[in-house]
Amino acid sequence: MNGIYDDPWAYELACSFRDVPAEAGVLLRWCAEHRPESAGPVRTVLELAAGPAEHARELARRGLTATALDLNPAMCAYAAAEARRAGVALEVVQDDMTRFDLGRRFDLVVTMLDSTSHLMTLDAFVAHLRRVAAHLSPGGLYIVEMSHPRDRLGDDPSVSTGWTVERDGVQATVRWGEPTDRLDPVTQIADDHVTVTIDGDRVIRDVVPYRFWTATELDAAIRLAGGLGVAGRYGDFGAGADTVPLTDPGAWRMITVLRPV
Ligand SMILES: C[S@@+](CC[C@H](N)C(=O)[O-])C[C@H]1O[C@@H](n2cnc3c(N)ncnc32)[C@H](O)[C@@H]1O
Repeated sequence: MNGIYDDPWAYELACSFRDVPAEAGVLLRWCAEHRPESAGPVRTVLELAAGPAEHARELARRGLTATALDLNPAMCAYAAAEARRAGVALEVVQDDMTRFDLGRRFDLVVTMLDSTSHLMTLDAFVAHLRRVAAHLSPGGLYIVEMSHPRDRLGDDPSVSTGWTVERDGVQATVRWGEPTDRLDPVTQIADDHVTVTIDGDRVIRDVVPYRFWTATELDAAIRLAGGLGVAGRYGDFGAGADTVPLTDPGAWRMITVLRPV
């Protein structure tokens, strides 16, 4: 059975609720805020567990030298093909975000949309952060977007979300997690049942294992990994006057900016 990550076009359609150019703009704004002036402008970016690599492609369009890395061959092929179609240069690497060794460093490394929920153990998260630290240039930043811990630990925890999107006249109705899905209280892993219905008739069903990470576990992983420290924390992709602190009641993402220490 093919899963949702084996159908990158459908995955990208399902995630098209995001404003990728706006998010890419905020990533660059945070770089301007958190990188030392001596580091100069951001020239190189590495997107990890990139899937269709929408952010890497957008940053490439803005003139950065961009690399995208993902484990799934279908995602890698799709990202490369979409970059070619758009006329932007994108290097695509099929590899594991806990083991990669590209032999060079980047001004910016990003992991978007909770892809770190595919790191199932603390050891895996620490290995991931050590690989990131080894790929950051002096003054480089790692920006990691995760789901907000309130999703699972709030007064009204939710295991399921649903939304509908439309792009280029094609509609997708998405259910990510069902009310019957349960987070194992010991492993903090849930098997999220995913259903994507395209134009009312084509249905993709999948079960995607999801590891829930708290903010304090992330801090512990950062400390264990060594080499990285927290430069900033945000609850959404607002910047400047629209900045959303992680603790804000309206925060719905956990975005952490890390820098080499
Ligand atoms: C939820 S998708 C997110 C894709 C992308 N970050 C985005 O913003 O759309 C998760 C991606 O992580 C990839 N992935 C899962 N485990 C991985 C690993 N160990 N190393 C690299 N990629 C991985 C999957 O193949 C999938 O493309």
